[in-house]
Order: sequence, then structure tokens, then C-alpha cells
Amino acid sequence: MVRLVDARELLASPRVAPSILSADFARLGEQVEAVMGAGARVIHVDVMDGHFVPPITIGDLVARSVNEQVHEAGGILDVHLMIERPERQIAAFADAGADVITVHQEATPHVHYALKAIRDAGCLAGLAICPGTSAGAVVEVAHDIDVLLCMTVNPGWGGQEFIEHSIQKLERLKRMLPPEVAIEVDGGIDATTAPRCATAGASLFVAGSAVFHTPDPAAAYEEIERSVNG
Ligand code: DX5
Ligand code: ZN
Repeated sequence: MVRLVDARELLASPRVAPSILSADFARLGEQVEAVMGAGARVIHVDVMDGHFVPPITIGDLVARSVNEQVHEAGGILDVHLMIERPERQIAAFADAGADVITVHQEATPHVHYALKAIRDAGCLAGLAICPGTSAGAVVEVAHDIDVLLCMTVNPGWGGQEFIEHSIQKLERLKRMLPPEVAIEVDGGIDATTAPRCATAGASLFVAGSAVFHTPDPAAAYEEIERSVNG
């Protein structure tokens, strides 16, 4: 697979990342094409195992199915693993085309090992924390990550309401993390919450239902994008 873009460079500017969790899977290629046609360059892939979170969603097979399309259009795959012991799945997702692989602090006793394995696999390393996990939990691995994903809802489902307390947490994370770490927000993100998260320090905005549960996903993407980039 020829990669047209450098993931780190792409994440240096604010980006809205449509989450395919809310897409119509019968028309997945078409839906990805619509948002990428509108300018999206980060496609978010939500992987759930029925253990770490109750639902079971998609695996490396689905990431692989959009790999070529996303990369040929100059985009990247942002894989969010909501699974127990994620270190066991890193090789499979790297092979399926992931550019960023994010593991949950709460999903393994071996976070440092998992983050190192992600970088060793040639991907950018992301660490996700749930709403109930303290911002301080990231201190020990602050120099081992490229992306910090601050969950702004409890992981597991699309379409939930943004947790207000996330704004203060983002401000704390911004003060605590090296400036080159991109802060990602995920859950309840739309054209109202995204700019508020941007002011608090976030630069990568995952949006599922606000993009795909609308009559025109391309227009919905553009509206959120304008809300953070002007
Ligand atoms: C939730 C997932 C999210 C989800 C967000 O556990 O990690 O990426 O798709 O969905 P919305 O944008 O609908 O809150
Ligand atoms: Zn996600």
C-alpha cells in the first residue's frame, strides 16, 4: 500500500474524523467517498469486542476493506480499539492499514508495552481514557504517545450526549502533555461541542452520528469542519 500522506503531518492541523460506526455498512465505500470528497482525511474506525464494552462492532477485516480507498484519496485510518488486551490485536490492525492505533488505559495492565508495540509496527500510538479516568493517568506515558484520545462520552455507543466535565479535563490534559501530542475528542461531537473542545486544546474531532445520521453526510462534515477551522 502506497501511503500518500504522512500521518503525523496530517494531524498537525485540526481535523474532523468521521466515525464509520454510524455509517450505513451496506454502502460503506460510498459513505467514505462522500466525506472524503468533502475534505475528510481521517477516517475513524471503532473496534468493540463485547467485553471491554458491551457491543461487538467491527474487526480488522472492515478496516482492510476501506484501506485502499482511504489511502488512495490521501487519507489515514484512525483505529480506536475498545477491546480487552489490545496488545494482542496490534499486528492485525497495522497489517490492515491502520495509521493510528489507539488503546485504552483501562483495557490492559500493559499500556506502555502496547504503545511501544504500536510504534514498532510503524503506526502512531494513541492512548484513550474514559470519562472516569483521571487526566493524571497519562503522565507516565506522555512521551510514548502521538495522540491522546479523551472520551467525551462513555465508550460503547454512538449518539450519546457530550459530557460537560470533559472541557475542564481537556484543559488539564493540554497543560500536561507535550505540545506535539494531538488531543482527540470522541463522543457527542458536533458543530457546537467541537469548537468548545478546540478552545480547550483538542485538535482531532471524531464525529459519528452528527455526520452519518443526517441526510447529507458531506454537508454535515463540512459544517463541523467549519466550526473548528473557520
Ligand atoms: C463511542 C465511539 C465513537 C462513536 C462516536 O464509543 O468511540 O467513536 O462513533 O459517536 P457519536 O459521534 O455519535 O457520539
Ligand atoms: Zn471512537
